[in-house]
Amino acid sequence: MRIAVVPGDGIGKEVVAEGLKVLGKVEELFNVSFDFEEFPFGAEHYLKTGETLPDWAVEELGRFDAIYFGAIGDPRVKPGVLEHGILLRLRFSLDLYVNLRPVKLYHPRLTPLKGKERIDMVFVRENTEGLYAGSGGFLRKGTPNEVAVQEMINTRHGVERAIRFAFEYAVKTGRKKVTLVDKANVLTYAHDLWERVFAEVSREYADIETDHYYVDAMAMKMVRSPEVFEVVVTPNMFGDILTDLGAEIVGGLGLAASANVNPEGTGMFEPVHGSAPDIAGKGIANPLAAILTASLMLEHLGLGDAANAVEKAVEKVIAENRVTPDLGGNLSTSQVGDAVVEALEVVV
Ligand code: NAD
Ligand code: IPM
Ligand code: MN
Repeated sequence: MRIAVVPGDGIGKEVVAEGLKVLGKVEELFNVSFDFEEFPFGAEHYLKTGETLPDWAVEELGRFDAIYFGAIGDPRVKPGVLEHGILLRLRFSLDLYVNLRPVKLYHPRLTPLKGKERIDMVFVRENTEGLYAGSGGFLRKGTPNEVAVQEMINTRHGVERAIRFAFEYAVKTGRKKVTLVDKANVLTYAHDLWERVFAEVSREYADIETDHYYVDAMAMKMVRSPEVFEVVVTPNMFGDILTDLGAEIVGGLGLAASANVNPEGTGMFEPVHGSAPDIAGKGIANPLAAILTASLMLEHLGLGDAANAVEKAVEKVIAENRVTPDLGGNLSTSQVGDAVVEALEVVV
């Protein structure tokens, strides 16, 4: 299996190295073989060459079985250049229309919420439209009469396939409820479409319960009673925001994994977190988000047993408190990677 590796910037490089260590152990234990090819795209490459992601690279990356991505973003580069030029470009050009983001509590001590033992929901974030479509522009830029417009794009096709994915995912994983999160009380055109399509599609899934929250109330409910959610489907921007909140209620960004997928094509797998310039280079970044992301990639590649084993190994190192400072431990990034490799041998 061919896997493209884009470590990117800051802690992206540090955590991807640990993910690769774990995948190396998976090769050994599960008798599979990965052919990794690394690509240099990110801030350094951009500052050196002026290039974010060349056209040939988009095509080439799309031909791999999967892309394992760290994070991009650098204080020396204007915000948006790398985010649009690399990350969003890949999500859009490869039509990775779902961003799947599990929010799962691996140990009760990790949640800042009182008395919560079980949190286990999965976000299906629409990943190619909404406020992220990049449609808009300036008028009279730089003058006192400047106008800046950023349009929210919602297509019937785009909304329907995200919602349909959420129901199919619920069926496939034995979950019983799909919750729609929108803001149709204010976005009376864009999110009216979401509500109509959701109602329509849900009729095809009689066994799946449905539920609905406006995004503001959802933020409240995720803190008050996160245990009630199973699958949550939501537009792009809300999915971005709510999954950082989701990460925090189960231990933080250092544990949050994500998969950009199109059921018919390749997938790009990246932790929810960014390049974290505040801790980059210190050897204290938590690699578990990247390692759990590798587990999502294994699942996508049809290696379910290996995926489960990696998740179990992560659970084991958390239970033993062999973790980085963000989770209350005192191990370094690479010591945690080693701990997961060791745990893998035990759980398999
Ligand atoms: P961030 O996710 O990089 O960091 C937010 C906070 O969480 C920081 O305090 C950081 O130290 C901490 N944190 C994040 N990951 C951690 C980990 N694995 N272990 C321990 N602590 C961790 O978000 P930001 O600071 O808003 O963004 C920094 C840059 O990353 C920006 O350029 C942004 O655009 C970019 N970004 C990229 C991605 C991506 O490539 N997928 C995602 C989010 C942000
Ligand atoms: C994420 C990030 C990206 C997003 C940025 C870096 C474009 O925040 O993956 O959550 O907003 O989708
Ligand atoms: Mn984000």
